[in-house]
Amino acid sequence: MSWMRDNSLNWAQKFALNVIKTGKIPRHVAFIMDGNRRYAKKLHLNASSDGHIHGFDKLAEALQWCLDIGIAEVTVYAFSIENFKRSDDEVNALLELAREKFRKFMEEKDELNKRGVCIRMIGNWKLLPLDLQKCMADVMLLTKHNNKSFLNVAIAYTSRDEITESIREIVDGVKRNELEPNDITDNLIRRCMYSDKCTDPDLLVRTSGESRLSDFLLWQASTSIVYFTKTLWPEFTFWHFLGGMIYYQRHYQKMNSVKQSMHHFSNFIADGTLPNDLQQMRQTMETETSTKVDTFSQGATEFLEKFDKRKNNYLMELSNLKI
Ligand code: FPP
Ligand code: MG
Repeated sequence: MSWMRDNSLNWAQKFALNVIKTGKIPRHVAFIMDGNRRYAKKLHLNASSDGHIHGFDKLAEALQWCLDIGIAEVTVYAFSIENFKRSDDEVNALLELAREKFRKFMEEKDELNKRGVCIRMIGNWKLLPLDLQKCMADVMLLTKHNNKSFLNVAIAYTSRDEITESIREIVDGVKRNELEPNDITDNLIRRCMYSDKCTDPDLLVRTSGESRLSDFLLWQASTSIVYFTKTLWPEFTFWHFLGGMIYYQRHYQKMNSVKQSMHHFSNFIADGTLPNDLQQMRQTMETETSTKVDTFSQGATEFLEKFDKRKNNYLMELSNLKI
């Protein structure tokens, strides 16, 4: 089954879509695609594999809805580090599905490049089989210059691992004297994460009735609107998707003001100018209109250039492997 779906909305769906498009649309949506095994059990299918195959088909459909409505970036939780604890049969089925779909992606590369899709894989690659890592590197290198839409696939991912590895990179940089302790800021930690090129999601959707984040984008989702729906992922329809968009539109204004005050507050902290007086802080927040640009010291900039180069070299080495 292909990654691409036709824009096959019926009249009523197109009408509803156009109504929703008159309101605020999230730029970036993240999905926790939960409920695949329950769906398979409900239909008396093989829970270790068939549920996830249906889950992938739903993902391809949902990506088309996102394109239709104008969402530029999507992140999906395809395989968490916790998922390695599942049975061998299920882990193998999930990794084989990923292999098959990334290979399919390479077959469809001309069309996907024409559509300008950039794919990024975020996670702890070293936990995955080498041949799968090579497929992932091929896909990433092939699409890295595309910039019309972005799909981030979280694979062998958990947030705590992402943060831990980022800090490890930074500590190594300090040990090599490339970084000063003063260079360590939240922006530097964010920049050294697997998802450094991804923006923070505006909306996070979790299906299947579970109301938790399961170690997914914990740092990035601090100001995301989170929408939980009881629907199992393979049963998620266009109408459920629009339900998520309406939920976002209802909560957007409030979250936007939270985001702005958090931004101002973190500027105070970064400047070391946190006022003693709350009243003074409120006033400054109200009068400050310019957006502060994140800057790194010369040393940190050079460290980041080396870090990017190492990551790129790793991708090229994988891609050149003859497997
Ligand atoms: C959670 O449902 C889903 C997963 C662990 C895997 C999700 C993966 C896909 C939809 C395929 C994506 C593939 C690619 C290549 C991007 P669950 O297994 O926890 O179901 P349950 O909650 O009913 O037990
Ligand atoms: Mg689950």
